[in-house]
Amino acid sequence: MSQPASNGSESESAPSARLLPGGPVAERILADVAARVAALTRGGVTPSLATVLVGDDDASAGYIRIKQRQAAELGFASPHEHLPASATQADLHAVITAFNDDPAVHGLLVQHPVPKHLDYDRALQVMDPDKDVDGMHPLNIGRLALELPGPLPCTPAGIEALLAFYDIPVAGREVVILGRGATLGRPLSILLAQKRPTANAAVTVVHTGVGDWPRYTRRADVLVAAAGVPGIVQPEHVKPGAVVIGGGVRYEGRRLLPDVDESCARVAGAITPRVGGVGPTTVAMLFRNAITAAERATGSLVGESPR
Ligand SMILES: NC(=O)c1ccc[n+]([C@@H]2O[C@H](COP(=O)([O-])OP(=O)(O)OC[C@H]3O[C@@H](n4cnc5c(N)ncnc54)[C@H](OP(=O)(O)O)[C@@H]3O)[C@@H](O)[C@H]2O)c1
Repeated sequence: MSQPASNGSESESAPSARLLPGGPVAERILADVAARVAALTRGGVTPSLATVLVGDDDASAGYIRIKQRQAAELGFASPHEHLPASATQADLHAVITAFNDDPAVHGLLVQHPVPKHLDYDRALQVMDPDKDVDGMHPLNIGRLALELPGPLPCTPAGIEALLAFYDIPVAGREVVILGRGATLGRPLSILLAQKRPTANAAVTVVHTGVGDWPRYTRRADVLVAAAGVPGIVQPEHVKPGAVVIGGGVRYEGRRLLPDVDESCARVAGAITPRVGGVGPTTVAMLFRNAITAAERATGSLVGESPR
């Protein structure tokens, strides 16, 4: 699976790390999802993933389109509600409640971010936790912490799957996560510390409260950037030969600015590419959560844990 990041240049500064694209990982996950969709459909059930978009943000509308296209390709029904930017919190809750109450809808997502006058976290709490395909409902974060079956937060689950796909062991090794945010760093720290063959790591989480965080990242066998601060991870923060996973990104307009500076490829042993690393695995996990929700709702889930 080894694949040099080099562009063929012989210069000393040429990158040498093995690249870890998310595409092949996502393909494998989605192939499994497609087979499960086909099995449900043969049994007379069309799995359904509902989406909610509020407002007219181009990027959010684009993400919803991508998810709907993917849903259609996989064989999901994908009912959609588009609320105007002027929608109230009550309007949003009403749409969520209607999807909660519809037994034909198995999974549900509200595209984040919502307009500033709305409270996404409150809306999330209105959602039926068993339909929460993002895995971010407080009950699902509780299930994660207690190792109970339930939808996993997509980006952390995608990172664990990516590491496993490329046979990168984390069990017994030192994983350092830069960032303790609710979407990525915090749930990933719980996931990778769990007692499973693809986890079982010694996990350290660093953040703005740890002044000398490079002291920790420099000893990491696996370093996950989850800060959302462009270029925060530089080669001097990486142990030679370490695995570097770039989760954090910031968008400036359409420009994607990753946490991990590209020059880290000169020091790392393996690294996710600037584009197409963690992102595709996140989307794949969304559909894995959706098919699992559909199977659970229809009593067709084989084995209780989606992990
Ligand atoms: N690739 C994907 O598919 C995907 C999916 C979801 C999220 N993301 C990205 O993941 C990133 C994290 O998202 P999130 O919601 O989990 O986190 P978040 O709430 O934005 O928190 C960021 C974390 O980074 C830490 N941090 C920020 N600046 C720092 C600095 N200068 N030094 C040390 N630590 C610093 C913060 O520390 P404090 O806690 O001390 O403030 C915080 O813990 C974002 O960039 C997001 O866009 C990517």
